[in-house]
Formats: sequence, structure tokens, C-alpha cells
Amino acid sequence: MDTAPSPLVDRFGRVHTDLRVSLTDRCNLRCTYCMPAEGLNWLPRAEVLTDDEVVRLARIAVTRLGITALRLTGGEPLLRRGLPGLVGRLSPLGAEVSVTTNGIGLARIAGELKAAGLHRVNVSLDTLRPERYAEITRRDRIADVFAGLAAAQAAGLAPVKVNAVPVRGVNDDEIVELVEFAAEHGYRMRFIESMPLDAQGAWERDRMITADELLAVLTERWELVPVGRHGNAPAEEWRIAGTETVVGVIASVTRPFCGGCDRVRLTADGQLRNCLFATEESDLRALLRDGADDAAVERAWRNTIARKGPGHDISSADFVQPARPMSAIGG
Ligand code: 5AD
Ligand code: SF4
Repeated sequence: MDTAPSPLVDRFGRVHTDLRVSLTDRCNLRCTYCMPAEGLNWLPRAEVLTDDEVVRLARIAVTRLGITALRLTGGEPLLRRGLPGLVGRLSPLGAEVSVTTNGIGLARIAGELKAAGLHRVNVSLDTLRPERYAEITRRDRIADVFAGLAAAQAAGLAPVKVNAVPVRGVNDDEIVELVEFAAEHGYRMRFIESMPLDAQGAWERDRMITADELLAVLTERWELVPVGRHGNAPAEEWRIAGTETVVGVIASVTRPFCGGCDRVRLTADGQLRNCLFATEESDLRALLRDGADDAAVERAWRNTIARKGPGHDISSADFVQPARPMSAIGG
């Protein structure tokens, strides 16, 4: 297509520029706030989009719909076989390509991913203590994460962001230490409020550490200077006075940012979701496999966005948790 893309706008005027693509629903960890110890019923391989299908949808998104950021997620996206090859096909489309990973195995392929055109990585790390890490993730792999972070930094996948979900009584005593760890290594620390998206349906509001609580802990230790938000980014940021250290807080529950949402999500099995909390999906994989042309895929995509609601209502009594857990949607 030679014409410029036409923006993906919904009925509230929100322009969608950020596509999150889940590349697999599988994971090599079993974070307790995400899934049960035995794992989940993984998607059969035939239902997962092939590389060709992912590339085609991404190309339609970038060239026709104005998507400027492609974020590869999971499950654990590094489990996708041939990931550097896929990144190498996505990066020439012109959108910024990043990966959200738990960091296991990142040390081995960080350089290859950078060479393939990857821009950045977000790495999940909820604790700095090996035993606690093994309790939270049910796997004794913290050394792999530290190695992955270092390799990503060395490869120039910058800024390397570290994501932690603080949970009361689990890791909420490590907030300051996590910030110090990130500052020491030149990573950017971000805290995410825990959301009701676990597979077990065991989320409890009282165990979530809110943005207010986080900020109280941080301001007790440091003087914080608000940096604000970058565009529609969900993270609100603060700089520690007198330093270059920036801390981000993603307060999806207590300070929802739905009004500025610019995201659309594609699950590993090719279902388009207009919201993390959507209860409806649109089956793009069926369209592709039925031989639809690009224009038909584009129409289906625009229709999905046209049906997007104003936002989630986690705090309302009527809130319904979506049928798919976070690990099957993509973060
Ligand atoms: N609430 C908030 N964040 C979550 N993550 C996984 N499950 C949840 C949840 N229920 C985080 C992971 C990772 C990112 C992709 O999302 O820890 O950092
Ligand atoms: Fe895996 Fe991420 Fe879920 Fe942990 S939170 S089990 S790393 S998908």
C-alpha cells in the first residue's frame, strides 16, 4: 500500500497506536498471582498464529491502521521458537518493537534480538531474594533473570525496564530495595498495581499495593519530583531529587488511564481484543485462514475498535473478570 495509514480511532476519539501481540500463552514460570502450579490448558499449536500470520497482521496494523509500537508479550514470548527471526521480519515494518519478558533465557538471545532490530525489553522481577523469587514464581530461576537483565543492558536494549507487582505480605517490604537495585544497574523500575486477571480468580483488593501506598513508601525514603506521563503511557513517573533515577507507577486499578488508552491486543490464537478487560474478541485468525484480503482484515479491525467501551470498571460491583487470564491475553 502506498497511501498513508488512516488512524485507528474509536467513538471516544482515542487513537490506537500500540499493538500488543501475544506470541504464546505458555510460560516457564508459575507466578502465584498469575496461574496455578500445574499451569493452564495451553493452546494447541495449530491454533497459534504462525510467523507468517503474525507478520501479515502486524503489516496491516502498521501500514493501514497507523500502529507505531509493536509489543511482543506472552505468556512468555521468549518461549516462541525462532523469536529473533520473527523480530527481524517485524522491525522493518517501521514500528518500534519491544518485548515484555520474565527474563529467563534472555541472556542467551539479547544480542541476537538487538541485531534483529528489537528496540527495548521490559523484564518482570518482583523480588531480589532468591528464595522469595522461588516462592513467587514457583521456580528457582532468579540468577537467569539477573543475567538476562545484564545482557539486555549490554546489548543496548535500552532503557531496560524492570516491572514488579507489589503484593501485601509477599514483597511489599522490597519497594525501596528494588528501586536501589534498578538505579545501581541503570535499569528503570516500574511498579504495577495487581489487577484481577489471574487464572484462579483469587485476586483480593486488600492485597494490592496501591499507587498511593507505593508513593508513601518512596517519599519516606526520597524526595520525589513528578515527571508526569509520556503521552498516553500508563506509567506515571517520578524522579528521585538530585539523581537521574526515575521510578514509574502503573496504577491500572486506583488511577485508571482508560481515557487515554491507545492499545489494542492480539492473542496468540489470533483474537483481537479492544481492551485487557474486554469480554468479546474478534477472530482475525479465522479471517486469515478463510482467505480474507487485507481490506477485509482492516475492516474487522476497525469494527472491533469501534465497539470499544469507555474503560474498565474494576471498582464497580458489576465488574466481570474476563474469561481469559492475563497470561493468555498478553500484558
Ligand atoms: N496484575 C498486574 N500485573 C500482572 N502481571 C501479570 N499478572 C498480573 C496481574 N494480575 C505482570 C507481570 C509482568 C507484566 C507483563 O504483567 O508481572 O510484569
Ligand atoms: Fe509467566 Fe508472566 Fe504469568 Fe509469571 S506473570 S507465570 S512470568 S505469564
